[in-house]
Amino acid sequence: MYELHQFFLLLFDTTNKKMAKLATIFIFLCTFATFSHCLPLSTSSRWIIDDENGQRVKLACVNWAAHLQTMLPEGLDQQPINNIVKQISLMGFNCVRLTWAAYMFTRNSNLTVAQSFANNGLHDALSGIAQKNPQLLGLTVFKAQRAVIDEMGRHGIMSVLDNHLSRPMWCCGNHDGNGFWGDEDFQPKEWLKGLDIVAKKYKDLPMVIGISLRNELRGPLQNQSVWYKNVKKGAKTIHKANPNLLIIISGLNYDIDFTFLKRKPLNLLNMRNKIVYEIHHYAFTEGQANWFLTQPLNKVCDTIKKEIMNKSGFLLKGKNAAPLFVSEFGADQKGMNPSGNLFMGCFITFLVGLDLDWAVWALQGNYYTRQGKTGMDEPFGMLNNTWSSLRSPQYHAKLQLIQQKLQGHACN
Ligand SMILES: *[C@@H]1O[C@H](CO)[C@@H](O)[C@H](O)[C@H]1NC(C)=O
Ligand SMILES: *[C@@H]1O[C@H](CO)[C@@H](O)[C@H](O)[C@H]1NC(C)=O
Ligand SMILES: *[C@@H]1O[C@H](CO)[C@@H](O)[C@H](O)[C@H]1NC(C)=O
Repeated sequence: MYELHQFFLLLFDTTNKKMAKLATIFIFLCTFATFSHCLPLSTSSRWIIDDENGQRVKLACVNWAAHLQTMLPEGLDQQPINNIVKQISLMGFNCVRLTWAAYMFTRNSNLTVAQSFANNGLHDALSGIAQKNPQLLGLTVFKAQRAVIDEMGRHGIMSVLDNHLSRPMWCCGNHDGNGFWGDEDFQPKEWLKGLDIVAKKYKDLPMVIGISLRNELRGPLQNQSVWYKNVKKGAKTIHKANPNLLIIISGLNYDIDFTFLKRKPLNLLNMRNKIVYEIHHYAFTEGQANWFLTQPLNKVCDTIKKEIMNKSGFLLKGKNAAPLFVSEFGADQKGMNPSGNLFMGCFITFLVGLDLDWAVWALQGNYYTRQGKTGMDEPFGMLNNTWSSLRSPQYHAKLQLIQQKLQGHACN
């Protein structure tokens, strides 16, 4: 669209100013029409599709953390937003799974970026933001998040907004108070309020294509009947606030287990073409890291694949078939983790075989602060710790295997 605009401006350059103005208005309307046509997305059996033309849209996303104490997407002290978003696009991703904490919307909606960093004692990061993204300092954390999502939209990058936890902090543990409904920081009412606010706030932005109800359900309170009850409430809340959105649903036990749906499918008939299930998998999932070091790789890969098919992959088939979004996987890119190195080859083959939608963990080269450490490095991050280039071209090359066949992103 941008190029077309340039073209028209050139075309009208030689005529009078009035014509140029008319042309600009025409192009503005054109842009608007294109955007409202190309989305929303829906599902058809196990595929995510573009409502407009029925073609498949494959999600090839990168996770961008924005759920920690500052509530600002990471890295904005390192590079201007525009640079980061350009790199996401150049790396071949067509979407970002942006994580958010519910309390950002239900308790901190008036907090400015400058206040948030000062409250956390992050003075270096604050001066980094003042240098790289000064326009953000006086904005509320919500408006700053929106500025990032807007910029992604301008670059043709879709956003999936993931409710990662309630209290802004690093995730996840069995006893961190954010694991299951009823935990100290996971009360159903406030959680629903957060989903409602987010779904409504982004109603005017079609490049926000989905919201996930909650990341990695876990911990001692896990209970299937509570899962059905709250998943239905969450899905209905989002659908009512914005019926265009995909609704992304997490299983039990850190997002690996949906076996209970074999006996009792979710009954969400009126929003059936919006439901997507998500799973996570790492080398260390279910304490399996050692398998990679002690068994032949073909055997380990085969066992893991069968296990995933049994716990979640079955959702891709049958009369209730729905898309399965592998919304987290990844490994240490410095090659320092032998299990992780072997896992990636194995898992990418699995993703190729089933042609799944996915989001790799993660974009961020480092964190403003994580688990009490300032400027902590993220060895799983696609970008290095100055957010200026790829951390590992070899690792990126592996991901390109699953970016192939990317198609149907009509908003480009
Ligand atoms: C934010 O400010 C508005 C008005 O300034 C106020 O009505 C609202 O309660 C505040 N919200 C929070 C969460 O503090
Ligand atoms: C799950 O929750 C329901 C409803 O609150 C309760 O009746 C049931 O006993 C719970 N099941 C387990 C295994 O805790
Ligand atoms: C598959 O999952 C079921 C639960 O739905 C379990 O009982 C069974 O043992 C699993 N089979 C395999 C091969 O893992």
